[in-house]
Amino acid sequence: MSTPGRHCPLHYRTDPAALAGRTDVVAETVYVIGGMYGNTAALDAVLRLAAAEEEQGRPAPTLVFNGDFNWFNVDDQTFDRINTEVLRHVALQGNVEAELGSPDGEAGCGCAYPEWVDDATVARSNAIMQRLQGAATRAPGHAEAVSRLPRQIVADVGGVRTGIIHGDPESLAGWGLAVENMPAPGETPAVIADWFRRAQVDVFACSHTCLPFIQRFPVDGRARMVINNGSAGMPNFRGDRRGVVTRIGSTPCPEENRLYGAELNGVFCDAMAVPWASEAWDAWFRRTWPSGSPAAASYADRLQHGPMHGFRDAWRIDSGDVPA
Ligand SMILES: [Fe+2]
Repeated sequence: MSTPGRHCPLHYRTDPAALAGRTDVVAETVYVIGGMYGNTAALDAVLRLAAAEEEQGRPAPTLVFNGDFNWFNVDDQTFDRINTEVLRHVALQGNVEAELGSPDGEAGCGCAYPEWVDDATVARSNAIMQRLQGAATRAPGHAEAVSRLPRQIVADVGGVRTGIIHGDPESLAGWGLAVENMPAPGETPAVIADWFRRAQVDVFACSHTCLPFIQRFPVDGRARMVINNGSAGMPNFRGDRRGVVTRIGSTPCPEENRLYGAELNGVFCDAMAVPWASEAWDAWFRRTWPSGSPAAASYADRLQHGPMHGFRDAWRIDSGDVPA
């Protein structure tokens, strides 16, 4: 008997081979926006970043929200704002959206938390999910649209094929591409090589695990890349409240927001900062999730101070410049 929030439902399974031979998006620039977690200030900041590229004469980025764009947005107004905007763009389900679309009491929050996450945290996530499901019930149009979203797609940028997924290539809530599970730079475990071969992609852009990193994996004599954006809507580094999105572009990432990145076959794969922090959003969070509430207990410290993670933990490339 498994505990809600701990296990990975069978219907979360995805098949990397389903990515082979398909191309869903062709663009000069793609933003992969994972884990916005219902943060409207982060959503506004991402839209500003995209608009700024156009104002600078760069190609308009295609926005791909790869899941967990809902989480803290349990009030009706914010639930509507997030889903109305995201559904105008390319969007994928994360485990949060999978539970909104087809609530599964056994899955809880659907996070499939690994053993290093404590039971109290899992219970609080399940409580957040219940409130969010209430908002979804009151907005059946959004809930229905979210239930029809795909779970993985392929984007082609300058001939580089990126498999955009939420967790890992075999599960919507998989932790197989978590930084905690990565080998030393330069090594390619058989399972990761197999995922690249089956999916026939050059890059996997993922999210879900909330800690960003970039790492190269040589497979069959070719460089491949995994880039996990951590979270667009929560801080990703200690002492730094900015969100992170993955930018894949045939033009370089604007320097002012570039955190780190690497080139792959002439295409730029970068972590891009999302400067979202605002008094107004902090006040909204305190009203919606007051002290003692499940989200305040689990996330208030991270939202103010960031996780124990630094650029040196995220930068897992075996050569090139180490970010400051
Ligand atoms: Fe997730």
